[in-house]
Amino acid sequence: MLQIDGLTKRFGGNAAVDNVSLRVDEACMIGVIGRSGAGKSTLLRMLNRLTDSTEGRIVFEGQDVTALNGAAKRRWQSDCAMIFQQFNLVPRMDVVSNVLHGTLNRRSTLATMFNLFPKEDIRRAIDILDRLGIAEQAPKRAEALSGGQQQRVAIARALMQDPRIILADEPIASLDPMNAQIVMQALRRIHEEDGRTVICNLHTLDTARRYCDRVIGMRAGRVVFDGTPELLTTDMAREIYGADETFSEEATSTEIETLDGREGREALATL
Ligand SMILES: Nc1ncnc2c1ncn2[C@@H]1O[C@H](COP(=O)(O)OP(=O)(O)OP(=O)(O)O)[C@@H](O)[C@H]1O
Ligand SMILES: [Mg+2]
Repeated sequence: MLQIDGLTKRFGGNAAVDNVSLRVDEACMIGVIGRSGAGKSTLLRMLNRLTDSTEGRIVFEGQDVTALNGAAKRRWQSDCAMIFQQFNLVPRMDVVSNVLHGTLNRRSTLATMFNLFPKEDIRRAIDILDRLGIAEQAPKRAEALSGGQQQRVAIARALMQDPRIILADEPIASLDPMNAQIVMQALRRIHEEDGRTVICNLHTLDTARRYCDRVIGMRAGRVVFDGTPELLTTDMAREIYGADETFSEEATSTEIETLDGREGREALATL
């Protein structure tokens, strides 16, 4: 379905993503983990064509995504909707209009300027909000919602594009644990019920373990682990995060402790 070959992104002399190759053969939920600066966001941004790669190829169902331009590139960008840590909603605009902005790619500039949305789109937007448990928030301004609700609005906006792939860059990094769980469950459901592939950058190991079928560990731009959560041992986690360097990712450290008891606590001591 999706194939990435030798994907590289250099900023000056620094390779943010360094010769990454991956295959996704069927819809699944993938968690990308790694310490700050490992290249997680750059990888997602290249997939969505927000950033151009320096080398390598991305092929989706036989189509070379890296070569797309203009309308074809915009079509791809709506086929792989992106969700961000900071939600990126229009704060003063109502929730349903924020969701409807997910259809912008296929609407005329004029209709957009006057906020003219077809009735069936409005109905669809409300159905999607309902599915995410926030239909009653539809008339409110986005800024009046909690972080967890705002992120669900952002997911609804992404779903409005009917994407094949959802790319989520640290979607729960700004949320409390309860809201983080709600948002991760929503993404999981979207994968399971709709058969969409979800690729999610995550800061905490246990989140990747709990929700993802496959975990990709990145370190210094390279993929150093790619497998099921069961294969992600404490040693491997140490390798991904670089246990010998100063590492103050508190959440992830505590997750390492939950990996497997005593061994986890020992790993913690060395971090
Ligand atoms: N626009 C840019 N210009 C120059 N360097 C950049 C740019 N974007 C990213 N980098 C560098 O590329 C490397 C990877 O950055 P990236 O944001 O992809 O990491 P990340 O894994 O998402 O980190 P974090 O967990 O902090 O979000 C870092 O060294 C970063 O400084
Ligand atoms: Mg990032």
